[in-house]
Amino acid sequence: MTAVVISGAGLWTPPHAISNEELVDAYNAFADKYNQQHAEAIENGELEAKPKSSAEFIEKASGIKSRFAYVKDGILDIDRMRPAIPERGENELSNQAEIAIEAARKAMSAANKEACDIDAVIVSCAYTQRAYPAIAIEVQQELGIDGFGFDMLVACSAATFGMHRAYEMIKAGTAGCVLVINPELVSPQINYTDRDSHFIFGDVATAVILESADSASGEHQYEVMSTKALTKFSNNIRSSFGYMSRANDVDPYGPDKLFHQAGRKVFKDVCPLAAEHISEHLAAHQLTPADVKRWWLHQANINMNLLISKKLLGRDATADEAPIVLDRYANTASAGSVIAFALHHEDLGSGDYGILCSFGAGYSIGSLVVRKR
Ligand SMILES: CC(C)(COP(=O)(O)OP(=O)(O)OC[C@H]1O[C@@H](n2cnc3c(N)ncnc32)[C@H](O)[C@@H]1OP(=O)(O)O)[C@@H](O)C(=O)NCCC(=O)NCCS
Repeated sequence: MTAVVISGAGLWTPPHAISNEELVDAYNAFADKYNQQHAEAIENGELEAKPKSSAEFIEKASGIKSRFAYVKDGILDIDRMRPAIPERGENELSNQAEIAIEAARKAMSAANKEACDIDAVIVSCAYTQRAYPAIAIEVQQELGIDGFGFDMLVACSAATFGMHRAYEMIKAGTAGCVLVINPELVSPQINYTDRDSHFIFGDVATAVILESADSASGEHQYEVMSTKALTKFSNNIRSSFGYMSRANDVDPYGPDKLFHQAGRKVFKDVCPLAAEHISEHLAAHQLTPADVKRWWLHQANINMNLLISKKLLGRDATADEAPIVLDRYANTASAGSVIAFALHHEDLGSGDYGILCSFGAGYSIGSLVVRKR
């Protein structure tokens, strides 16, 4: 059967960064103003006062120091607290297609691929900015790719699950070369007025080329040994934004419609699930965690990554073994493990094993065991 390889990766980093300090200053100024404006209701117990945020807490609890924003305007404006992104006309390129293409071109170049070499485009991420036509089809047209494209949403595991679909298409022979893109434009879904979650996410776009080993000519090729997926329903990470709000007569931008989570519960539930998942996936190849040279793990929280790698290795993973990118990028929904891969894969030697693994909302866990060719 055809071997499937990841033959190129691309990363697009937005032009604007926001440090913890900048974000916390804006949030705290907003909270002061809110508390003053609602002093009476807070006094009467009708409303809760907004508590203060702190840059030290954020770094200690999450490992995040900074995040990138596609558009910074508006996010730090205490009278707005959300990015100001002008709507584009139907004849203009959509925002998500724009950043998807930036990452896609880099992945194509790393894999030595032209548009004519690609058979399918999957855009897989936590949100798409519209229901249809698919962002993937817009990207396909813009890049001049024949064949087909579709969008898929699996929250934090969208990227790995998208790679799984590409792997299966290539194995089945329905496509020879697939472009999988994760335009994680997540800043519009962040509740910047919520102390517990205002710091978590950043924008980014990543892309990979998966193809049959027979056609691959990229300098760094990773054979996908197998894929493994798990989902288990949980309301602990949720965004209820959607088209039903119009019929429900509710505020489409209410706090429950934006990202919200029970972070502690997520931590407790997901760490053991992810560790067990990874260990089972490796065991299917008669591998143990000690055989893995590089762990490209989901990037939501440094303490989660440390705990998972400690459960597996029986010791702390080194920064070389399990690279962390969330200090600069924050949580980028599904793209985190792909950013880690894009930045830290070229140094592996032939025959070295690595594992990509995402974990998060759904709950959803997706992994790929790979071996450098
Ligand atoms: C969100 C997360 C960073 C919070 O860290 P935590 O250590 O669990 O912190 P808690 O929410 O329990 O809060 C601890 C204390 O800090 C406070 N706190 C929360 N946010 C704060 C902030 N921004 N600034 C200052 N203090 C804060 C809390 O109110 C709490 O105070 P209390 O003990 O007096 O009630 C962490 O739970 C996490 O990352 N979980 C996993 C999330 C995840 O992976 N999600 C996937 C999303 S795709």
